[in-house]
Amino acid sequence: MSETTYTTLLTRTDGPVGIIQLNRPKQLNALNDTLMDELGAALRTFDADDAIGCIVLTGSDKAFAAGADIAAMAQHTFPDVYRTEYITRNWEALRHVRKPVIAAVAGYALGGGCEVAMMCDIIIAADSAKFGQPEVKIGVIPGAGGTQRLPRAVGKAKAMDLVLTGRMMDAAEAERAGLVSRVVPADKLMDEALATARAIAALPRLAVLAAKEALNRAFEAPLSEGLQFERRMFHAMFATADQKEGMAAFLEKRAPQFQGR
Ligand code: CAA
Repeated sequence: MSETTYTTLLTRTDGPVGIIQLNRPKQLNALNDTLMDELGAALRTFDADDAIGCIVLTGSDKAFAAGADIAAMAQHTFPDVYRTEYITRNWEALRHVRKPVIAAVAGYALGGGCEVAMMCDIIIAADSAKFGQPEVKIGVIPGAGGTQRLPRAVGKAKAMDLVLTGRMMDAAEAERAGLVSRVVPADKLMDEALATARAIAALPRLAVLAAKEALNRAFEAPLSEGLQFERRMFHAMFATADQKEGMAAFLEKRAPQFQGR
């Protein structure tokens, strides 16, 4: 894979795992246009790389990301943001990634930072993580899915509580509420995220992509349509070599040799 140098990200690979680290430490990884452009490019690069089976997105010990960059947007006017499609232009990249993306969150995940984490497929939180949508405190509202994905994750009661007060919730509350998949000690965060990513990357690639696509349908489609989509994807798996291999290996009581096709 060709190396790309980013100004706001660090990227590396660990076997079949692509790792993207948000890297604006002085601004607590505040999300500006350069960072979101680079994040999109890094995600697309790993998504297109056959050697990569899963992506981990992380920040620093202090902050996953403290939100959209307030300094960059403070002087924006309505015509600026409306005409340029601020937020939609370069924040949608995560939605189009087909491989699983794990957010490994330590410290603050606020505003756009919480929204970016929610665009990922699995959130693994350090016990130091703090989640919140504090936008009302600065005179705006969440603009990258906070009012839509948060209630789907935690229900209306908790989402209203968080969005209307702007308060933060800690990792334990986020796990109870269903926002995060697991909470681990901060010093184990990357080990846990990478172990999970490696386990996913070792699975039949097409089944993993199909499972992610079908699960995401649950949030977009009525139940009957989602069930039909799931069934068709289930049927489609019978056209893959890895289905033959996975089932044969199970019956022959041996380890499977998956080919990713
Ligand atoms: N944008 C720009 N800069 C930010 C930032 C942000 N969202 N969050 C923190 N920073 C900067 C601070 O300005 C500060 O810079 P200086 O050292 O140059 O003064 C530096 O990061 C460190 O921050 P603090 O000194 O404030 O650190 P702290 O530990 O005292 O507090 C914090 C940490 C509670 C996260 C606090 O920084 C904070 O409240 N940040 C803003 C959170 C926020 O409102 N996020 C929502 C933004 S709007 C949004 O995201 C819209 C959307 O939906 C897309």
